[in-house]
Amino acid sequence: MDEVRTLYPEAYKICQQFEIDQHKMEEIVLRMTREISMGLAKETHPRATIKCFTTYVQDLPSGRERGRYLALDLGGTNFRVLLVTLESESSVNIDGKTYSISKELMEGSGVKLFDFIAQCLSDFCKEHKLENANLPLGFTFSFPCKQQSIDNGTLVAWTKGFKADGVVNKNVVELLREAITRRGDLKVQIVAILNDTTGTLMSCAFHRQNCKIGMIVGTGSNACYVEKTSNVEMFPGYQNSSKPHMIINCEWGAFGDNGVLDFVRTRYDVEVDSHSINPKKQIFEKCISGMYMGELVRHILVELMDKDMIFKGVKSQTLQERGRFETRFITEIESDDPGKYRNAAMVMDNLGIRTSNEKDLMCLRYICETISTRSAKLAACGLVCLIRKMNVKDLSVGIDGSVYRFHPHYHRLLMQNMNLLLNGTVRYELVLSEDGSGRGAALIAAVCAKD
Ligand code: GLC
Repeated sequence: MDEVRTLYPEAYKICQQFEIDQHKMEEIVLRMTREISMGLAKETHPRATIKCFTTYVQDLPSGRERGRYLALDLGGTNFRVLLVTLESESSVNIDGKTYSISKELMEGSGVKLFDFIAQCLSDFCKEHKLENANLPLGFTFSFPCKQQSIDNGTLVAWTKGFKADGVVNKNVVELLREAITRRGDLKVQIVAILNDTTGTLMSCAFHRQNCKIGMIVGTGSNACYVEKTSNVEMFPGYQNSSKPHMIINCEWGAFGDNGVLDFVRTRYDVEVDSHSINPKKQIFEKCISGMYMGELVRHILVELMDKDMIFKGVKSQTLQERGRFETRFITEIESDDPGKYRNAAMVMDNLGIRTSNEKDLMCLRYICETISTRSAKLAACGLVCLIRKMNVKDLSVGIDGSVYRFHPHYHRLLMQNMNLLLNGTVRYELVLSEDGSGRGAALIAAVCAKD
């Protein structure tokens, strides 16, 4: 760091703007707590940024769920169809196929998107001779949805680069059923719609009874947690439910959409936001998640290059293009051993910059670390906020998403920053949740089938 400061003072100055000290972290936790309370309360819900959607999932798995289930997983550029067989607590068999969602499908007509989903489901079922099996299906649909029941969810807004028309304000379960009916070659029962965070929590809770939070740090970022039913005013039965708990899908990505995070945002965040498909929306998510981290690094690099402050004054045309610095490059660069720059050199080489010396690469790594550290700090604030809200002293947190899964230091950074705030008062474990979207969907389908 000292070397960056002396050799690349401009880069150092930029990175300083991304620093979040403990005092600011506490302030973020406080502000998030307020927004969550607003989301939960009927009176303030309409203007709350963190919507805290009711998931209608009130039971955690017992570990004794069994059977065959289908799961659909839509939430990013990959769409998956899965056949999940719960054989025993230690044996869950998942057979699945991944299909890629083209930009045209993401941004085109909703009917075409759902026809594509139904077609993939049909192909998969035919391959597995399941077209008439009438299996229960859990639909993991990882976008903000207002739910009316476990199998009814209205899309509130698209996030993560989707904008297919005719879907917002519609019940997506109905859109899926209609697409399946149009084909007429398939019998399935859609029993539940869920968010990936909920699937992640359920999947982790299958093995750990004390799992109370599910978090995703991938293309997007979000979390869900276990709330007392009596606090969930948006749930019609909140005062007289026989079940004490309800999983709440926070949709924390929208935290800051009303300006409350402006005190930590930088002009690079503002820049990334203004070129996104949904400006002024998902502000917290844009500081944290994989869809934006690489872009933040790219903006910083472009500025340094414009000022001839790095790469010997060479200008890279490639780096001028949006999206060209992928978040996985950050993971690769930070995977180099300290003082080594093998991956870093490879990444820059691929971007057409062959003039970088070791010092430049050291500076590049520092910029990447700045962005991933800030991401982890903000996610840690979110987790601490939920832990304090639940007032639990012992829990597991199920986590999934490409950033958490592949970044070499993310887990450690999360813990380091949570420890700073929790100060030994809570025993917690962060657990990589295996295939939450698939296994979690099956578990919810199984738990629903029990009712
Ligand atoms: C976005 C979606 C949210 C999802 C998250 C992680 O924030 O709005 O529903 O959980 O991405 O995939």
